[in-house]
Amino acid sequence: MMVTIGKKDSQPCLAEFYKEDCKKLQRAYPLAEKIFSGKYLQSKILLIDENKTVVVVGMGKEEDRSSLSPKELLAKACKELKSNGIRKAVFNIENIVDIWGIDCISACTEGIHLGFYDGISYKQEKEKKEYQAVLCGISEEQTDEAQKQIEEGELLAKAVIFVRELVNMPGNMLRPLDFAKEVSSFAEHENIEISMLTFEQLLKMGMGALAGIGGSSEFPPCMCVLRYMGNPDSDEVTGLIGKGVTSDTGGYCLKGRASLIGMNGDMAGGAVTAAVIKTLAEQKVKVNVVCVIPMCENRISPGSMLPGDVISSYSGRTIEILNTDAEGRLILADAVSYAVKDEKVTRILDIATLTGAMVNALGFHVTGALSDSDEMWTGFEEASYKTGEHFCRLPYYKENEKMIESSIADVKNMGETVCGSITAGLFIRKFAEEIPWIHLDIAGTASVDKPLYEFQSKGATGAAVDTIYRWLAD
Ligand code: BES
Ligand code: ZN
Ligand code: ZN
Repeated sequence: MMVTIGKKDSQPCLAEFYKEDCKKLQRAYPLAEKIFSGKYLQSKILLIDENKTVVVVGMGKEEDRSSLSPKELLAKACKELKSNGIRKAVFNIENIVDIWGIDCISACTEGIHLGFYDGISYKQEKEKKEYQAVLCGISEEQTDEAQKQIEEGELLAKAVIFVRELVNMPGNMLRPLDFAKEVSSFAEHENIEISMLTFEQLLKMGMGALAGIGGSSEFPPCMCVLRYMGNPDSDEVTGLIGKGVTSDTGGYCLKGRASLIGMNGDMAGGAVTAAVIKTLAEQKVKVNVVCVIPMCENRISPGSMLPGDVISSYSGRTIEILNTDAEGRLILADAVSYAVKDEKVTRILDIATLTGAMVNALGFHVTGALSDSDEMWTGFEEASYKTGEHFCRLPYYKENEKMIESSIADVKNMGETVCGSITAGLFIRKFAEEIPWIHLDIAGTASVDKPLYEFQSKGATGAAVDTIYRWLAD
């Protein structure tokens, strides 16, 4: 399904967007004024005659809007259409482009796909409903740029939906090797080189952390590596390292019944990295990126780790295990070391559903971050202002680093009861070996029980895909 550019009357259904104080609305639909004030996300269906339906969506006042709004407004329109059984419409985005400029058409396109997105279901009866969207209200001289924007929006929507479907997939349907297969087929592209390290290779290479956690399951671990060298003239290589735990039981530090639910989505970070690299390659962005995704389950088995164990990692550092449920940082440690040692990355972004503490601190709409490079962080933060996704950089100090010092090993995999999100990030940082680093903890933002925005649905969100892409693309 594709979004196209067309004319206002090419479909019997038209979706339009109006500000709270909009004179244009009064001129176009004088009667609508009584039932529609233009409040942000207010929506009304107007039956003009038996051949024409109009959906109006409110753009609100200036203070209600952000750079996230184009995506949300279009998604809202689609949800309103869907709930009225309409799946074909023309979207007049003239008033939206007036406010956000031509560059918002990518986000509009994404919003349409996400608004119409139904999710997957494992019910016996399923229907895949088609939809059709046409954009109008774009001036003649802007159609070429609009077309480019639409292409980008299509790809970003696909990327987000890829993440959502894998994160929502039940754990028994997505074992580590299934995940590797899904990632490899999604990221298949002439300019992406894909390779995989098997469990045997991980053991031989001395990846004691990844093999140690992954060895806890009869479904073996692996590590996927995706390379896209879009700028051969540059020595800069960005490593995107994503947590790929397809089922996190906690291991011997077993989670309670309630906390086990949703732990099939503990691979969201890994899925995000694959989604981003594929979009970059499709858009021929001039950057060099390597994704490293450690994939495994975290379970109980006779040989699995116990608190008190000391393991050795790919970096050579020994790690004292205090809690087997702090597995994400362990597998990321080996993946980050691999990116540094074998892929020679020059900067690192790791992304993971890492700590429950982050959910408590920032909730479901802000991704917590750590970084040791102001320069790298500034660039990333700028990208987040463009996408409207929220990120908050947490501080850290020597005092926090002390919290993960071990008396018997080089480092321990958990700090004290406080600062859980910070110590988790700092643990990973050790393995980045002073290379500029950003850490994103999406434990709260990767899925939602109740959608917070119109472009979300219950379950996985695909959070951070847009921003990481934008950061690397601009
Ligand atoms: N995957 C979890 C973190 C998580 C919690 C993600 C809630 C999404 C929602 C992670 O592996 C974990 O269990 N972390 C522990 C760390 C602790 C034992 C130091 C946690 O947060 O409790
Ligand atoms: Zn865990
Ligand atoms: Zn986990």
